[in-house]
Amino acid sequence: MRTKETFPVVLILALTLAGPASAAAGPGPDIEALLAAMTLPEKVGQMTMLTLNAVSKGQLPFSPAEPHELDPERLQRAIVEHHVGALFNIGHHAFPREHWRQMIAEIQELARGTRLGIPVLYGIDAVHGMTYAQEATSFPQQIGLAATWDPELVERVARISAYETRAQGIPWVFAPTAEPGRSPVHSRFFETFGEDTFLAGELTAAFVRGLQGQDPAQPHRVGATLKHFLGYTIPVSGKDRTTVSVSRRALQELFLPPFVQGMAAGAQAVVLSLADIDGLPVHADPGLVQGLLKDELGFAGVAVSDWGSVENIYAHHRAAASRKEAIALATAAGVDLAMVPFDVEHAQELVTLVREGRVAEARIDDAVRRILAFKARLGLFATPIHPAEQYPAYASPAHRQVALEAAVASLTLLKNQGGVLPLAKSGRLLVAGPAADAMAPLNGGWSYTWQGAETDRYLPDGVTILDAIRAQVGGERARHLPWREDGAVDPEAVAAAADGVDAIILCLGEPAYAENFGNIDDLTLPAAQLELARMLAALGKPTVLVLAQGRPRIITAIEPAMAAVLQAYLPGNEGGRAVAEVLFGDAEPAGRLPFTYPRGPNGLATYDHRISEDYAFDCLYPFGAGLAHTTFAYRHLEVSPRQLGPDGTLTVAVEVLNTGRRPGFEVVQVYASDLVASVAPAVKRLKAFRKIRLAPGESRRLTLTLSPRDLALVDRELHWRAEAGEFVIRVGDLSQGIVLTEGRVFPR
Ligand code: NOJ
Repeated sequence: MRTKETFPVVLILALTLAGPASAAAGPGPDIEALLAAMTLPEKVGQMTMLTLNAVSKGQLPFSPAEPHELDPERLQRAIVEHHVGALFNIGHHAFPREHWRQMIAEIQELARGTRLGIPVLYGIDAVHGMTYAQEATSFPQQIGLAATWDPELVERVARISAYETRAQGIPWVFAPTAEPGRSPVHSRFFETFGEDTFLAGELTAAFVRGLQGQDPAQPHRVGATLKHFLGYTIPVSGKDRTTVSVSRRALQELFLPPFVQGMAAGAQAVVLSLADIDGLPVHADPGLVQGLLKDELGFAGVAVSDWGSVENIYAHHRAAASRKEAIALATAAGVDLAMVPFDVEHAQELVTLVREGRVAEARIDDAVRRILAFKARLGLFATPIHPAEQYPAYASPAHRQVALEAAVASLTLLKNQGGVLPLAKSGRLLVAGPAADAMAPLNGGWSYTWQGAETDRYLPDGVTILDAIRAQVGGERARHLPWREDGAVDPEAVAAAADGVDAIILCLGEPAYAENFGNIDDLTLPAAQLELARMLAALGKPTVLVLAQGRPRIITAIEPAMAAVLQAYLPGNEGGRAVAEVLFGDAEPAGRLPFTYPRGPNGLATYDHRISEDYAFDCLYPFGAGLAHTTFAYRHLEVSPRQLGPDGTLTVAVEVLNTGRRPGFEVVQVYASDLVASVAPAVKRLKAFRKIRLAPGESRRLTLTLSPRDLALVDRELHWRAEAGEFVIRVGDLSQGIVLTEGRVFPR
């Protein structure tokens, strides 16, 4: 074995531009020189990421009641002896910011003293604001952000999330989830931007821009990660980490585009899917990772394994005979950085594989080059942790105001019979249901801790829906019917609580969960909640249903008895206030559904199902639905030219008028339908949208443009092709036919 010289510090600090990947990076090393100076164990250490638990005191399961402490011996062993280059998360605690900063500083200090002084890459699941931090601002989960249909707002949210994450000393987040959520049963549906590929792509790009800005090395920015590549969100059973069966056409047409948009926006990390596709674990699929992601799409960043997923090729999928073989398969498939997450033996096995000639050192060099370039791009060589004074706005009222704005913008009014909303503040109200007086159902998983189950303990002063309603109308006007822990509903207690009230606000939904803890056998809302709804509705008072949920639980049996339905998603810590503002008309409901709300647990087709399936399609509320406290009319649609050439531009102009007596937000949605194609086409697909606010009586003419690329589908040969022929463009209740005169193939 070649022995290495101690790496000259001056070389590490040299300011260089080491190729396109680091062109926008802050001061960094000459990566090729650094690579040349590394031993094999040092290189493999860079490819190894451990959970913070692995370098902390104590044994699993860690208790949130125990104070957290780094374990200096474990840390030394990982960083110094085994050259571990990346750490992430912590499963069971939310820390004060000082604790985070102290730990990160200690870790970076230790790394600085190693032979090559390479900084540690710290990553975290800050998916709706900084998770695992006690004071940080909490935003709506991605499914709620999707309901805002507002890329500018999503970008602002991500910018604050980046600011508050970097304020802890953490430069990298595992967000956003780029992949659309095509199965509402999947427990991770709430982590997606909903079912539509185009909406998910636009918001993924906005989120990446918000996190990274022009330069993720800046003190208020972090590196983004697109996840989970590819086809993860549509398990056949609906249960997390179970097998996926999806066609190459669907992968390309429906699942891939948001990743392409996220990469174009500058994302330099991708987390791979934990699932297998038709039996081949994605982590062991060179066609998807090396072939599609890196070679075809030209992704120059870091392909990151998900939690334990390399070992799981063997331990979970049984698609390798041993862990060592699994490591060989994953590395050859293109995995650069392994989220191991506990032990350093993983790295030792990879070293052995290279020495045995079973993994090419060139592959190791490729992975390490990518990882070092990423560290440089995040500015870690120059400034591993920025001073605390850089973050005066951390957890500030200004940040919380944006969280409130986002929560309000997400709230989606699905039904408002007889204009029961907005409610008068002078009436007497009953507030009931499991989501009425708790913060956990407003936040869901990845809140304070992984499962989000500790949220109420971390938020003794959190403003629940009940608190916010009482703040609006006065405590004496809003009675509370507590939800019993055992879920039992007592008819007498219900009747007594509702006696003398004018209206009922019923807050139903889901408890917090993450990943496989959210697996369900039935999408229907649990029986006890339906029973409570029936009992309350039978009292004959107007009942407003507020849904705090990460996926559309089936409510068809009770929906006709509800006077109004407000879909709140998982709106975060400001959700209680947001709901109250909308209920009483202090704010306008401005969200639109980013998914199809199913009528029954077996009716899970998306809005963009094929024309051939349309006869069987039914839903409770359609994709894109949402009411305002006012009404809108669409007029004078003009789509031109009617005959579109393959290089032309299609202009869609339409006038939108607020026909009611209140101001309101409308989301103008442009859909295209291909009437005949070489493969059975979708009924319609979203191609453009714009959110506008109109005063009463105000009208606005909007012009949106499409290109033949927007009319393309993935054809029989798996090419993106706009096929010549007839299309219909739809906006609101208006539509116009056009003809594409000549077909054309497009790159991805
Ligand atoms: C597993 C999850 O699938 C992924 O989304 C997350 O980023 C990692 N764990 C790290 O917690």
